[in-house]
Amino acid sequence: MKLLSYEIKIAQGMITKHPEQMVPFLKPLGAKFALITDEALLSLYGEQIKEALCLHGLECTLFSFPGKEPYKTRATKEKLEDQLFEQGFGRDSCIISLGGGVVSDVVGFVASTYCRGVPYVIIPTTLLAMCDASIGGKTGVNTPYGKNMIGAIYQPKRVYIDPSFLQSLPQEELKNGIAEMIKHAIIADKEYFEFLEKNQSQIFVSPFLEKAIVESVRIKKAIVEEDEREAGKRAFLNFGHTVGHALEKLSGYTLAHGEAVSIGMMMESKMAYLQGALSLKELERIQAIIQAYGLPLVPPFAVTEEELFSCMKGDKKSVRGTPRFVLISSIGRAKECVQIDL
Ligand SMILES: NC(=O)c1ccc[n+]([C@@H]2O[C@H](COP(=O)([O-])OP(=O)(O)OC[C@H]3O[C@@H](n4cnc5c(N)ncnc54)[C@H](O)[C@@H]3O)[C@@H](O)[C@H]2O)c1
Repeated sequence: MKLLSYEIKIAQGMITKHPEQMVPFLKPLGAKFALITDEALLSLYGEQIKEALCLHGLECTLFSFPGKEPYKTRATKEKLEDQLFEQGFGRDSCIISLGGGVVSDVVGFVASTYCRGVPYVIIPTTLLAMCDASIGGKTGVNTPYGKNMIGAIYQPKRVYIDPSFLQSLPQEELKNGIAEMIKHAIIADKEYFEFLEKNQSQIFVSPFLEKAIVESVRIKKAIVEEDEREAGKRAFLNFGHTVGHALEKLSGYTLAHGEAVSIGMMMESKMAYLQGALSLKELERIQAIIQAYGLPLVPPFAVTEEELFSCMKGDKKSVRGTPRFVLISSIGRAKECVQIDL
């Protein structure tokens, strides 16, 4: 599959079993390779992949940081950059990201500015990163002022999606990916929504999981190819995220991204219903699918509408302090972005 100028490869066992198969593609990308991963994945996958790359002729060094939301910061980026400088990485370097969305967001941002930009490759290891975060080139870090407030759009040279990494991913993390899959279906593809409705009990089993990943990648790829810089349609991918990002921030980043997005999708669907854009029947189907996948419909902590709106006003997509929401007109169709204030 070609995206913009790069390829997204999807195959079971491609990296966990044969990491050396990346070598012919990687070799021309740099003289030195930095494999940057999540501390939790070091012994699980990182060391083995690094060894395989070195054995097949690449000069590869392994770096790690705690791949969790509270570490998606400017401080982590700076630390990684200093480590790269200390190890003599220059403009002829290539960076490989191995991890979930936190790792690819931080590593992509490091790659975008390191020596004014070096090539990078993404190996996503969570469902969310496979079906969403690794596609489209958005990179960045959080600040105390909000999520993903600093970053860049910087496309990788290639994405290697190997669903076999998911064998070690906890169930709770799998659910985060499901939330983004449901989002893709709601904004762009009714048939995919029906597939997710119908196959809920077997979605984590082959070949249903692979089909869902391919569908999500196809939808995100099509949207990003049409609108890389988010001047129009790409904003539809923010469905559920205006509310979701605010809830993540209000929870001190303890609420999982997928849970926050699910609550956000429910609230934003209700807004569409109240505006007369969405039917009650479809609102109920959205509620049912979120529940069926064990995702929450309401925040697990007390929050008033005023608190939520005040937090959303600071969202980077707000226009003159008024938050923007994605309005859906039916399942499978996002209609427009609207500004709504209390
Ligand atoms: N750039 C984008 O377009 C985009 C899109 C959606 C989300 N995101 C970002 O993605 C982040 C969330 O990413 P995520 O859901 O992948 O979570 P994550 O990166 O925080 O990883 C979740 C947990 O899973 C562990 N883990 C990762 N892979 C594993 C594996 N194979 N086996 C066992 N454990 C594993 C990690 O150590 C971590 O504890 C958020 O910061 C969000 O803003 C970015």
